[in-house]
Amino acid sequence: MDQAENLRKLVNNRASQKKNRFRVITVTSGKGGVGKSSFVVNLAVALKLRGLKVAILDADIGMANVDIMYGVKSKYSLFDLVFKNKSINEIIEVTQEDIKIIPGGSGLKDIVDLDDTQREKLINEFEKLDDIDVLIVDTGAGVSKTILNFVGISDEVIVITTPEPTALTDAYSLIKIIKNKFEDANINVVVNKVRNIKEARETFEKLSNAVNIFLKSKISYRGFLFEDKRVPLSIIEQRPYLIMYPKAEASMCIMKIASDVIGIEKDNKNTTIKDVFFKLLGRMGLGS
Ligand SMILES: Nc1ncnc2c1ncn2[C@@H]1O[C@H](COP(=O)(O)OP(=O)(O)O)[C@@H](O)[C@H]1O
Ligand SMILES: [Mg+2]
Repeated sequence: MDQAENLRKLVNNRASQKKNRFRVITVTSGKGGVGKSSFVVNLAVALKLRGLKVAILDADIGMANVDIMYGVKSKYSLFDLVFKNKSINEIIEVTQEDIKIIPGGSGLKDIVDLDDTQREKLINEFEKLDDIDVLIVDTGAGVSKTILNFVGISDEVIVITTPEPTALTDAYSLIKIIKNKFEDANINVVVNKVRNIKEARETFEKLSNAVNIFLKSKISYRGFLFEDKRVPLSIIEQRPYLIMYPKAEASMCIMKIASDVIGIEKDNKNTTIKDVFFKLLGRMGLGS
């Protein structure tokens, strides 16, 4: 039996012991700096306030900063878990709001080359994390193998754009690549930094029309966030704006988006944390 076959067997065995299903949401963008990480940090708080157990995987290899936005500092990452024998509980940071942050770090890149023992270790450690309702994956901008791997295992992909034409064309290019690879990808768009609701809607319509006409495909509108100076302020304060400024316009917007996510969430929990990493490992080296 070759190595790939061995792992597939292991995956199938484990996958049959399903319990505690949860949902994976990957947040990404074409252009950088459009507001992914601040969105992820506050969406996590909003979902937590609505009673869900939330974890964030910080998969932005170059600029991982979710921890800083919560005012915590990760000492370790998946790299230390796989290569330095740290346990999952040693690498996770838990925020004041009881949100678990899993720092991907450079370890994410190296997952492609794991041997059997290292894969086992990764899977075993993630099994300890079963008590989660939603896993939100924060990624870097643009297209990379890592991002596409996460898109492939997600129940929902949220593409963030702003009304700027450059952000919009980059969002279109990203959606095109995702749809080419995963025809059925569930892509939802959040328009960030808008001045009014009309601008948000029009921005989405432009993107949606291009996707309809040129890709013969569909995307959905997930909502918008007003341009709000309390967003950068809260980053300086290293606390989520939803906690610091619950009445801010951006906070209202994020609560609305969270409600819509939960609306779908109810009857759509179909993955365990184990499944996610089995699938991910499969994608990253073994195919299927
Ligand atoms: N709704 C908003 N209103 C005002 N500024 C925002 C908003 N969302 C994000 N920003 C600002 O944009 C910058 C990039 O945000 P960040 O979340 O780090 O983006 P990304 O993760 O996509 O690089 C930050 O300075 C942040 O304060
Ligand atoms: Mg970011």
